[in-house]
Amino acid sequence: MSTPAIPKHLAVIMDGNGRWAQRRRRPRIIGHRAGARAVATCIDFCLERGIGALTLFAFSSENWGRPDDEVGGLMKLFVHVLDREIAELHRRGVRMRFIGDRERFSAAIRERMQSAEALTAGNARLALNIAASYGGRQDIAHAARALAEDVAAGRLAPADIDEAAVAARVALADLPPPDLLVRTGGDQRISNFLLWQLAYAELWFTDTLWPDLDAATLQRALDDFSGRERRFGLTGG
Ligand code: FPP
Repeated sequence: MSTPAIPKHLAVIMDGNGRWAQRRRRPRIIGHRAGARAVATCIDFCLERGIGALTLFAFSSENWGRPDDEVGGLMKLFVHVLDREIAELHRRGVRMRFIGDRERFSAAIRERMQSAEALTAGNARLALNIAASYGGRQDIAHAARALAEDVAAGRLAPADIDEAAVAARVALADLPPPDLLVRTGGDQRISNFLLWQLAYAELWFTDTLWPDLDAATLQRALDDFSGRERRFGLTGG
């Protein structure tokens, strides 16, 4: 029997926290707190299976439009979870990075992001990327701006702008692009996540709400992934 294929880079849209809380007649923030426990489950799973990179969509650029108490509660939760978990993540060889528009966060959160990145920069077991105030279109727009700046400064000729030049300027350029996207919560869409990077990812959707995520659900995604034939636009072999 051949060894099942393990994704090199798993990307996850963690959806369903609000509905999980609603079903229990609890405030939405209770769902987000339960969601934080599912984040730990997902990280454990990646470490156990030898998945080298995990990118979690924690907060989209559009999520700023949610009610103030939900946004405020989420910010507190991010700080709390980071403060509680960072030493252990470091001990386990996790390298943490944040992608997105971090200028929109408070100084306290930005400082924590920076110190978590600095502390774990030398780790190589799992690259854990948290997309926060992130949008895929915004990511591509930033890459376009960087290209324009290089052209304006004479470092790049317009004729040299190709896919590789864009790929080098979007977020997570140093990692293999996600080969598997998992979305919980029943919706089947990309929601402005890693638009460029997901071009050839296998997509896997489940009705499971994010706080209910367990290793068995993630294993089903992996089993499905290993049975798929990835052709990258070519014909099958
Ligand atoms: C989407 O569910 C989830 C979010 C907007 C927040 C994700 C945050 C966490 C999982 C908390 C902890 C994260 C980290 C990285 C520590 P939703 O609120 O849109 O759910 P709904 O579709 O049921 O309303």
